Amino acid sequence: MKTGSWHRIVGIIGPGAMGSVLALELRQVPGTRVVFFGRQGPQGHRATLEWNRTHHELDIAAPNLAECRDVSIVFTTTKAHQLSASIATNAAYLAPGIPVVVACNGMVDEEMALLTQRYPFQWRRGTMTYAAKFLAPGRWRVTNERGTLAWGPWPDSQAEPCAIERELVAAIKGWEWQPDIAQHVREKWLFNSALNSLCGELNLKSNGESLKHRAALATLFAEAYRLGEELWGAWRETEEGLFRRLLALIEATAENQNSLMRDLEQGHRTESLYLAGLLTRASGSYPALQRAHAAIRAQEQEEGN
Ligand SMILES: NC(=O)c1ccc[n+]([C@@H]2O[C@H](COP(=O)([O-])OP(=O)(O)OC[C@H]3O[C@@H](n4cnc5c(N)ncnc54)[C@H](OP(=O)(O)O)[C@@H]3O)[C@@H](O)[C@H]2O)c1
Repeated sequence: MKTGSWHRIVGIIGPGAMGSVLALELRQVPGTRVVFFGRQGPQGHRATLEWNRTHHELDIAAPNLAECRDVSIVFTTTKAHQLSASIATNAAYLAPGIPVVVACNGMVDEEMALLTQRYPFQWRRGTMTYAAKFLAPGRWRVTNERGTLAWGPWPDSQAEPCAIERELVAAIKGWEWQPDIAQHVREKWLFNSALNSLCGELNLKSNGESLKHRAALATLFAEAYRLGEELWGAWRETEEGLFRRLLALIEATAENQNSLMRDLEQGHRTESLYLAGLLTRASGSYPALQRAHAAIRAQEQEEGN
């Protein structure tokens, strides 16, 4: 039994859109207390989520130190560029050995290589398909009826899930243990690199608008496919097959505000910097990706980021 009357305490580092969505999902698991960690450490969290025409209020008290030590799994839901700092601030509050699931978008392999050396947790990598539209500070609308969270072992793909991971996967629809998580992360990166780069470069408000620029989308996709191949070896699926899946994803999320555009509009730094980092490591030529990133960077700099 954990502190007080809770059976399990789940930590979330990153009290933003996705952190709030995961907290709402966890609320349905009986005996579960969710605790948040932010830029300054453990904190309370209030948020409103509109989801499937229902308003959900989260009002979560800040944890005490004993509760922090009793956290049995952590999900990190910061942006990719906030990941390392968020762990540096919050690791000391947590018990060594617990699973920590890094659920951000972007290729954070290098950060994770350092984190796995520095901090004694069982590291996991994850991807989410929830979509949240920003309405006002602390208020989001979830625009897909259901989302998913898949996670798996990193870097040791043979590691088995802990008891708490099995419990959460069994309790929450759409949550899944995925031994092959590296492949899922790479595909998500590929789709984001093509779609978000195009939306950012051309200032497209919704994912669906990208279909009006199909030739440019195909060029960015082809370059991202080649870049992925150069950095991590052959893809398991053909370029045509993966492009068809991207088009299907865009159709399914046509109304969604593009996440990179949302960050630009709010004056936040975008995850495009991760794409740029990968481009500098590669020796091949990727002019369309370079141009898209430069256009996005120029917009960020206008906002002083
Ligand atoms: N939003 C979506 O629809 C969606 C869907 C799927 C995947 N994703 C991915 O999920 C990740 C999170 O996205 P999001 O939309 O939830 O972002 P977000 O709303 O900006 O949330 C990020 C949170 O992390 C906090 N944070 C920043 N630095 C921190 C630090 N050093 N320590 C602890 N917390 C820190 C931020 O705090 P402040 O408020 O103080 O900045 C913010 O509350 C991204 O990789 C994104 O690409 C998002």
